[in-house]
Amino acid sequence: MSTIQFFSRLQIRGNTEMDNARIGQLIQQLRKEKGFTQQQLADSLNVSNKTVSKWECGNGAPDISIWNSLSNVLGADIIHLADSGSCQNSKSTGKISRLMFFICPECGQILTSTGKAGITCCGRRLSALVPSSFDDCHAVKMEIMDGEFFVTVSHEMSKSHYISFAAYVDDDSCWFKKLYPEQNPEFRMPMFGKRGTFFLYCTEHGLFSEKLRTLLAQ
Ligand SMILES: [Fe+2]
Repeated sequence: MSTIQFFSRLQIRGNTEMDNARIGQLIQQLRKEKGFTQQQLADSLNVSNKTVSKWECGNGAPDISIWNSLSNVLGADIIHLADSGSCQNSKSTGKISRLMFFICPECGQILTSTGKAGITCCGRRLSALVPSSFDDCHAVKMEIMDGEFFVTVSHEMSKSHYISFAAYVDDDSCWFKKLYPEQNPEFRMPMFGKRGTFFLYCTEHGLFSEKLRTLLAQ
């Protein structure tokens, strides 16, 4: 979302007081995280410390002309953070077994998170992929070969429809394999154990997952 679109939406909603308070709270939080005083932030933006104080109290929002500078100084995309509600997530232990995958529909970038997170790419807010059970069109065969798993996927690998990645996730580790169109959909995977979950992502049909133990029993 562009700055102009963001401000236009504020005007349409007519909720500027609430939004100013939310933006002010966010500026204050990020300023403190950076260890800046109000005066230091004001100096870096060529405004007065009274102006910064006014923003943080929700009695006005920064002028449109300094949003980019403000984002750079505070090291955060203020527009996206303010628009997403800047909610504070609870503390995460970063448990790998809770790993979630996100794919940007615009650039195809693969992102991961071990907890609730506001993830954006190419100006879009991304939702975590919700895995389905493997089906016949995405069947996986696993064999043990030379102390490793040899994985074969029955699936086409054309440029418009292919298996983009495979992953294995257990309590404390994650293994990731990127695949590309026109290569054979087969690869070796280290034998970490059998307790974890195996993932496969198809560019057209999404994410599939199954306990590795179950796949091996098939
Ligand atoms: Fe597919």
